[in-house]
Amino acid sequence: MASLSLSTLSTTSLSSRPRLYSKTSATHRFKVSCNSNSSTDDNPKLILPMQNNNNVDRRNILLGLGGLYGAANLTNIGSALAYPITAPDNISSCVAATQGITDLGNAVRGTACCPPSSQTTPVPYVLPKFTQLRVRPAAHRLTPEYIEKYQEAIKAMKALPEDDPRSWKQQGKIHCAYCNGGYSQEMNGHPELKIQVHNSSLFFPFHRWYLYFYERILGSLINDPTFGLPYWNWDNPMGMMLPPMLETPYPSPIPNRPPNAKYNPLFDPYRNVAHLPPTILDLNYRGTESGTNILAGKVETGVHTAMHIWVGNPRMANNEDMGNFYSAGYDPAFYLHHSNVDRMWQIWKDLDTRNVDP
Ligand code: C2O
Repeated sequence: MASLSLSTLSTTSLSSRPRLYSKTSATHRFKVSCNSNSSTDDNPKLILPMQNNNNVDRRNILLGLGGLYGAANLTNIGSALAYPITAPDNISSCVAATQGITDLGNAVRGTACCPPSSQTTPVPYVLPKFTQLRVRPAAHRLTPEYIEKYQEAIKAMKALPEDDPRSWKQQGKIHCAYCNGGYSQEMNGHPELKIQVHNSSLFFPFHRWYLYFYERILGSLINDPTFGLPYWNWDNPMGMMLPPMLETPYPSPIPNRPPNAKYNPLFDPYRNVAHLPPTILDLNYRGTESGTNILAGKVETGVHTAMHIWVGNPRMANNEDMGNFYSAGYDPAFYLHHSNVDRMWQIWKDLDTRNVDP
């Protein structure tokens, strides 16, 4: 896979080692800490797709971390595997999502996650000539102008017809199709194996490509070829809350109505209201306010999953939106979150030349 160099890193944290930070706030019940401690390994972990005889049920992966189905038996399973898979194309069969959705009947986002059909023959994507640099800015440092530009882009995406592959809905569905059993590995001769892009080395590249196209769509919708997707800098003390722009009031489209967060294109109705700004986030969140440490280096199973569960609404049947793979792609927070996850990948490589992709 060609590596993309578009996720330009901000100046805020590359130059320094991962920082340690701790703060106790009277208004919040837990202590914020980025410390990591490799000597304790008692957190429930989500691991693995299929490992020979160790057939771990990888459904409900995000929910599972909340301890809803005893994940304790997963703690001794080693590092993740990634069998080579072939990406599905528009000839592959795609089926409605069934995996990882505990309460199908109350799945508010719908489980028909297959892309719109196309009559054209798929052609391998060729990276266009690199002409302009896109710089991804930290969400908490955006200027009001940038926030507005980003809101306009999302608004334009939401205004596209639903069956447009660039539309809000089609983009959101991608995560569901690749993570909740939409596709199998039939192209490798294994129709019985579902494609799952998490819990293996597919995690970083899959999401990088996902953001790559998403960012280009947004930029093209506002005619800005330099548009860079903001990243939710949850590893910086200033970024340790849900980016407020996702929740700020926005002018009502209805004349004479007061501004309302609901009309903000970045607003998502399915978020944990106990975790809205200025609540300080918990990088180790597993469904309860914890304050304990996570293992070093486990970007995906650690803070990545924690932030999904922390943002999702625990009162929804499937922890929509961010708390479940099938619905996560509908919350703008998802893309800001993964923009930071993508940044972590690059930081990891920059920290040591021995850090190379498998
Ligand atoms: Cu595909 Cu954050 O998950």
